Amino acid sequence: MNLDSLPDLRADALARIAGAQDLDALKAVDVAVLGRKAPITALNQGLGRLEPDARKAAGALLNETRGALTQALADRREVLAAEEHRQRLEAERLDLGETIGSSLPGHAHLISQTTEALEDIFLGMGFQVFHGPEVETDWYNFEALNFPPAHPARTMHDTFHLNLGEAESVLLRTHTSPMQIRVMQSMKPPIYAVMPGRCYRRDTPDARHLPTFHQIEALVIDRGISLGHLAGTIEAFTTAYFGRPIEARLRPGYFPFTEPSAEFEISCPFCPKPGAGCRVCSQSGWIELGGCGMVHPNVLRAGGIDPEEWTGFAWGFGIDRLAMNRHDIDDLRHFLDNDIRLLRQF
Ligand code: DAH
Repeated sequence: MNLDSLPDLRADALARIAGAQDLDALKAVDVAVLGRKAPITALNQGLGRLEPDARKAAGALLNETRGALTQALADRREVLAAEEHRQRLEAERLDLGETIGSSLPGHAHLISQTTEALEDIFLGMGFQVFHGPEVETDWYNFEALNFPPAHPARTMHDTFHLNLGEAESVLLRTHTSPMQIRVMQSMKPPIYAVMPGRCYRRDTPDARHLPTFHQIEALVIDRGISLGHLAGTIEAFTTAYFGRPIEARLRPGYFPFTEPSAEFEISCPFCPKPGAGCRVCSQSGWIELGGCGMVHPNVLRAGGIDPEEWTGFAWGFGIDRLAMNRHDIDDLRHFLDNDIRLLRQF
């Protein structure tokens, strides 16, 4: 046998390796240049017929050639694999460019917009805005607010409890009122504060109830605060919010954390003439907003404030209902559906 053809075989094999354009093609080249039927393999098989010295020399030469081709195949495989990986990444890349551009496609939810509008009004009136935890302890949500254990008013707050600590000691807040205590603990009077946020109750969803809803709480503590200040504040912010003069009226009510307590109503901002009656106010001329009252001395004490020196008022109401009234939305569940046809309108 003679190895004269070896340099040409080698050059031809190297050219085919370099010319393979993808991993599948390279696999075929690998079989063709080093496989059982490859010309170089045939030369290998001829080695046995050579004299020992000649066999040794030819064997070394063939081995060197096979080694060089094996290395060339490995190098080419690495290049092609990297290229295929790059192409796959390119093909699967998500173009998120449009969300970082100047025109964001999304916008704040109507509830967030309403909350922000209310916060703005109160900031303008000199109030501070506080946000607090949605997971609360029984003490902040009830006990410090003058709901003793087993108090009947607790049953009106159908509560979600968490499996944490002692039984029923940790819960999802049922109202924003626990923020009254947190704010009192965090600062000294005078206090002029509003605290908006999400609340939870075990209610079955229907057009006027959701198990998760939003309230905004107000707390004012100063010297000589009276019910007159309470009514005046309600009129001032509702007038600012609705953009027309609003009257407030209080009806006696009961809450453990205020004394006296009241339910407050505002004159309907949607009636064609004040007091005329319309669909939104069920022809009554008034819309019920929430609860309010003078902060109970026990609550001031729980917040670390001396009731002999300071008095205050508080109120809380549902933000969802306010947004629903103002924007003529007939079902609270729309706020959670994320139906683009509703979201787009606000
Ligand atoms: N937390 C009460 C509720 O969710 C609403 C409320 C009533 C808040 C009277 C107050 C208040 O601050 O003084 O039903």
